[in-house]
Amino acid sequence: MRDLGFSTRAVHAGQDFDPITGAVIPPLHMSTTYHPHSVGNLRLGYDYSRGTNPTRDNWQEQIAALEGGAYGISFASGLGAEDAIIRSLLTSGDRIVMGNDVYGGTHRLIDKIHGPNGIRHSAVDMTDTAAAVEAIRAEATAMVWVETPSNPLMKIADIEALTAAGHEAGAVVVVDNTFASPYLQSPLALGADVVIHSTTKYLGGHSDVVGGGVVTDSEELADKIRFIQFAAGNQSSPFDAYMTTRGAKTLAVRMERHCDNAEAVAKWLLGREEVTQVLYPGLADHPGHDVAARQMKRFGGMVSFRLAGGAEAARTVAEGTELFRLAESLGGIESLLNYPAEMTHASVKGTELEVPDDLLRLSVGIEDAADLIADLERAFARL
Ligand SMILES: Cc1ncc(COP(=O)(O)O)c(C=O)c1O
Repeated sequence: MRDLGFSTRAVHAGQDFDPITGAVIPPLHMSTTYHPHSVGNLRLGYDYSRGTNPTRDNWQEQIAALEGGAYGISFASGLGAEDAIIRSLLTSGDRIVMGNDVYGGTHRLIDKIHGPNGIRHSAVDMTDTAAAVEAIRAEATAMVWVETPSNPLMKIADIEALTAAGHEAGAVVVVDNTFASPYLQSPLALGADVVIHSTTKYLGGHSDVVGGGVVTDSEELADKIRFIQFAAGNQSSPFDAYMTTRGAKTLAVRMERHCDNAEAVAKWLLGREEVTQVLYPGLADHPGHDVAARQMKRFGGMVSFRLAGGAEAARTVAEGTELFRLAESLGGIESLLNYPAEMTHASVKGTELEVPDDLLRLSVGIEDAADLIADLERAFARL
């Protein structure tokens, strides 16, 4: 599969036809348990679906093929995947160096759940490679956690440089590839050890299934993460895996359209006097543009912007669109608008990760760009 193109892998990896019926789409296996040939003599290794399930296996094969790794592991949510990585690879006293603008839930998990268990963290500006490398070298670092582009400030971190520094320090390097999707960015090819996804977003792609995915090329890391998944009972259901597989098959065509539309929306926002800053790595003056151009195929479907009128203006626009639905989450075919300070990032208020209250985040969908811009225009007219 590794030699095939991205879309071919998306459509075919883990999707062999059913040998019994010839069904082109592999059936959804909901069975919790499996009848062995005899005691201890399992059919194809299946015994109980918390451990292994054919539909989940198919999805795991697919996500591994998309990220270019050997092992895919599918979880009930993105945070479930993150929790399994931290619990299986770190012990009390270990330190994580992470971006100071990671997804609020990631910060909450590391700070509030793993902090009391002795996992320490240092939050640094990952866009400043030299400062991040210094933080990695400053004391023992067990894990480097990179999220790029970041949520919601669209900051870009240099995966290759941070991976090199992480490995020099003996750390495991994890990249949250949720915002880019494997179509636009391949962290394993840039040297990272583990890729994590909230598959709830672009991989599922239709805002109808919550899930998380981990991909690694290391058998040792995969075994440790799989053990936690099995022993602690944190896996995607067969139905969720089936839905995500279905969505991921069209990832490439969706991402191209998300990118086209995001570029059009970002350009339109740039020309508006109500807007003080447009945060989109595709813009030539974005501070991370050159690094993004090097490590991403295109610049993605997420656009954030800040309003001159502050929090009040942000709320007015947030409540004034119709096609851009006011909602959390991102990466679906429909456009969504989020007010991070009070929604997705409310949990980091008062911490070093607090986001500005004049900021809006758009998940630009695959609708017609002209309609999306007209929708924003109507909302801006309320200011
Ligand atoms: C970048 C990023 N990582 C991880 C997560 C967590 O994923 P989930 O909501 O599927 O648990 C999110 C959720 O918004 C996210 O945006």
